[in-house]
Amino acid sequence: MGEHALLRRTVGGNCQWGMVVGRTPGVGNIGGGICFLAPIPEARRGTGTGGEVMALLEVENLSVSYLTDGSYVDAVRDVSFTVEKGDSLAIVGESGSGKTTLAMTLMGLLPVTARVTSGRVTFDGTDLLKLKEEELRRVRWRKMGMVFQASQNALDPVRKVGQQLVELYRYHTKSTKEEARGEVLRALESVNLDRSVANLYPHELSGGMKQRVVIAAAILLDPKLLIADEPTTALDVVTQAEILLLLKRVVRERELTLIFITHDLNLVSVLCKRIMVMYGGTDMEQGTLEDVVASPSHPYTAHLLGTLEGLEEGKLVLGTHREVIKGGCPFYSRCPEAVDYCRVRFPDRREIGPRSVRCLLRGGETRS
Ligand SMILES: Nc1ncnc2c1ncn2[C@@H]1O[C@H](COP(=O)(O)OP(=O)(O)OP(=O)(O)O)[C@@H](O)[C@H]1O
Ligand code: SF4
Ligand SMILES: [Mg+2]
Repeated sequence: MGEHALLRRTVGGNCQWGMVVGRTPGVGNIGGGICFLAPIPEARRGTGTGGEVMALLEVENLSVSYLTDGSYVDAVRDVSFTVEKGDSLAIVGESGSGKTTLAMTLMGLLPVTARVTSGRVTFDGTDLLKLKEEELRRVRWRKMGMVFQASQNALDPVRKVGQQLVELYRYHTKSTKEEARGEVLRALESVNLDRSVANLYPHELSGGMKQRVVIAAAILLDPKLLIADEPTTALDVVTQAEILLLLKRVVRERELTLIFITHDLNLVSVLCKRIMVMYGGTDMEQGTLEDVVASPSHPYTAHLLGTLEGLEEGKLVLGTHREVIKGGCPFYSRCPEAVDYCRVRFPDRREIGPRSVRCLLRGGETRS
């Protein structure tokens, strides 16, 4: 099969489905010439030397920066987290906190202007950052699906939905058109869409239907991990609820491991058991949703939870990434508990019982 049609719909080297076209040098070990349509061999289950089951995804001290005005600016800084098989992790943070950059790093779909400056990403026993382009193609998309932020805009307006999904399926598998169509129709049904939707053009679908189509695309190749980046943004409240419930059912039925990215804490409890709160590119607090919401430890988490009710009053002042990332604690300029030391020292991640917190005034010795 020749070049996939979706690959031709490119924006600055990346197609709107998040596929990278051609070689993309200078991105570190991932992100070079990547396309998530490439077929892969049978998945290997990661086990340790003793045969114990390892985490499905382990991110260690990951830092990513973008080339901006001639120099690299950190967008993700020293982030570490683990996702066990069957886990459901919410990544929550305000705009610019690095959520999408983190997700695109996991998928190996960073733009050419980005580079991974440190860290390790182990997925299903494979160190993704060490893989060559060809090897990456065997890992991505069939094992790791993603609903990209604003991805319903990625649907090609001049081709029918079914045709686009059939091409996606066939690009990754040695299947006939008939086999692929059968899989596509099943995927559409699994997201509560009638089979007839396959014969419609995107402009004939509502926003909610388009979102169901991109979810169908994300699960079409039966991945182990689903990353959903703001999947309900721009939908009305009723449709938002429908999509959340749909995701919940799909995750349960397909036994998917889920990373759900959102800036809206209200949505998290529908889908997730664990939470990682990001601010200024880093992981401020992680733990079970129950624990963190009941008793937030990090001042930013407390701020986030405390301001939920006051959002209409404009109490949540959004910081910009560059204001918060330079030197010291990223939250320093907004933190009600800040001491002078916080201005010069980037906080380590500290384990406090079953959760981790990145604050100089929590869980360890602190200078004032
Ligand atoms: N292609 C890019 N080039 C330069 N800087 C970028 C690029 N993409 C993102 N950034 C910067 O990296 C930081 C993190 O952006 P990112 O999109 O990952 O945040 P986010 O948490 O997903 O935000 P949102 O909630 O608005 O989607 C921001 O400061 C952003 O301006
Ligand atoms: S390290 Fe300091 S500035 Fe940062 S969250 Fe903790 S108290 Fe606030
Ligand atoms: Mg984003």
